[in-house]
Amino acid sequence: MNLIRVKDYNEMIERAGEYMKLQVREKKDSVLGLATGRTMVGVYERLIEHYKNKDISFRDVITFNLDEYYPITRENPSSYYQYMMEHLFRHTDINTENIHIPDGSTTDPLEECKSYDKKIEAVGGIDLQLLGIGRNGHIGFNEPKPVLELNTHLTDLDETTIEDNASAFSSREAMPQQAITLGIKKIMEAKKIILLANGREKSEALRKMTRKEVDPRWPASILQLHPDITTIADEEACERL
Ligand code: GLP
Repeated sequence: MNLIRVKDYNEMIERAGEYMKLQVREKKDSVLGLATGRTMVGVYERLIEHYKNKDISFRDVITFNLDEYYPITRENPSSYYQYMMEHLFRHTDINTENIHIPDGSTTDPLEECKSYDKKIEAVGGIDLQLLGIGRNGHIGFNEPKPVLELNTHLTDLDETTIEDNASAFSSREAMPQQAITLGIKKIMEAKKIILLANGREKSEALRKMTRKEVDPRWPASILQLHPDITTIADEEACERL
């Protein structure tokens, strides 16, 4: 695992933006695996800047988001669908047909999960997967469990996750308790992975992720087996390494 230690959030998103820019310049029809959460807001701001400076175009880019709450409608301002529109897509020339986000309003989540994996397979898999990390070591919404789930699946959200993400909803009760998430297999099959961790609250997860042991109670630890992963972490996140 290639670990790049940076000073702070700004340096982290700068590096991540550059890395993603190079990917899209090298392969205009890149398949990008995208993440949400507070960490990614600045990364998408950088990407929009690169787009506005005409360094990159999203015209042929295909995207697959990692996850979506369940149940939730696309219109819900707290959905990851709205997050992606607001923070990235509506500012770019991406073709809406190339945007994929799990449908949090489906009545058949099992079928939605299966067809999501098939759509990824149909385009030859993910070229670059962007990942954040939960305080509890989750990636996407692959929550700590005795066994990691391989395929895209519906999962119960961990208490820590509900605590951390409830502020995006009008109340804790308004927050869905489940989510559809890409499984470990499609993440590990991505040709390249870039993971971002910033802030002291991520330091324990980062430590568990890099201690040369795979532990499903810290899902990100499996990433140590990936052949091309770059982690960019700030000083605070690296505190316990
Ligand atoms: C969220 C998302 C993850 C994200 C992580 C960290 O719940 N499902 O994809 O990477 O948790 O979020 P944040 O960047 O807000 O700390």
